[in-house]
Amino acid sequence: MRVVVSGARPTGRQHLGNYHGALKNWVRLQGDYRCFFFVADWHALTTDYARHESIADNTVEMVLDWLAVGLDVDRSVIFQQSAVPEHAELALLLGMLTPVPWLERNPTYKEQREQLTDRDLSTYGFLGYPVLQAADVLMYKGEVVPVGIDQAPHIELTREIARRFNGLYGPVFPEPATLLTDTPKMVGTDGRKMSKSYGNAVYLTDAPADIHGKLARMVTDPRRVRRHDPGDPNDCPAYQSFHRHYCTPEELRHQEEGCRTAAIGCLECKEIMIKHVQAELAPIRARRATLRPDDARAVLAAGNARARAVASGTMAEVRAAMGLA
Ligand code: TRP
Ligand code: SF4
Repeated sequence: MRVVVSGARPTGRQHLGNYHGALKNWVRLQGDYRCFFFVADWHALTTDYARHESIADNTVEMVLDWLAVGLDVDRSVIFQQSAVPEHAELALLLGMLTPVPWLERNPTYKEQREQLTDRDLSTYGFLGYPVLQAADVLMYKGEVVPVGIDQAPHIELTREIARRFNGLYGPVFPEPATLLTDTPKMVGTDGRKMSKSYGNAVYLTDAPADIHGKLARMVTDPRRVRRHDPGDPNDCPAYQSFHRHYCTPEELRHQEEGCRTAAIGCLECKEIMIKHVQAELAPIRARRATLRPDDARAVLAAGNARARAVASGTMAEVRAAMGLA
């Protein structure tokens, strides 16, 4: 079986953007690949080194949601990056052969340094972020990395680093392929990208009444000020992100027609979509309610041990290849 590796920074409770952007895909891959999914807690420190308080709690909350959506310890290795210190050793060694200009020209690096102006990101750790990410993937000889488009430059760099390593020391690493998640970015209730930091997210663990309330208030076509004002679904964030994703073709036809002719109101139109969201989240919520923080900790402890066993094998090969044996 081919190897899949992916990770996520510990952001705590997962929202619909996380679910459709990554988790659903991970769950699907489990049957067909040898999967390694991990909490990238060191990556969290690259940007949040000065607000580290919530990392441990966020790790537990995130893993509980992973289990609730169907990540399965019998089919995947679920672990925590910082519990496998070999990642740091491999990142150090890969750093020896990674030219700094490769890191500086990375578009995600440049963009984030411009955007996250509330903190000092002129650090060695932040520049080296993609080297650590390359170590995460290459440690397990990952062949397929399911990520969103924003991560594609990092996986490209992982391939370049693997190629350079293999050229210098002999073939040790496969060059991993990016498996792009095709779902477009889910928008939040205010029409911007769904994100915890914008406060516009619908969480997998939200109660049904909260889900209803958030989606009922979600922004629509601003032309529909009054009930009899017609609108255009093309200008409706709810329609573009949620309706399109959740409703059947017949429902969409009915909603589109009703919107353009003002035959239905926005709430009535949304109720059709909300019903689907509720149906999707009900089994996840039920599963989540059976899980306790200690379950996440136990899953990680077992996964960490399995990951370390693989990592120590890779590191023995790497040390030998680099003349360190
Ligand atoms: N950088 C990724 C993110 O922010 C998380 C990540 C860390 C990752 N290491 C990885 C993803 C290895 C895929 C493979 O989402
Ligand atoms: Fe959006 Fe439906 Fe309202 Fe039209 S009727 S603006 S598609 S929610």
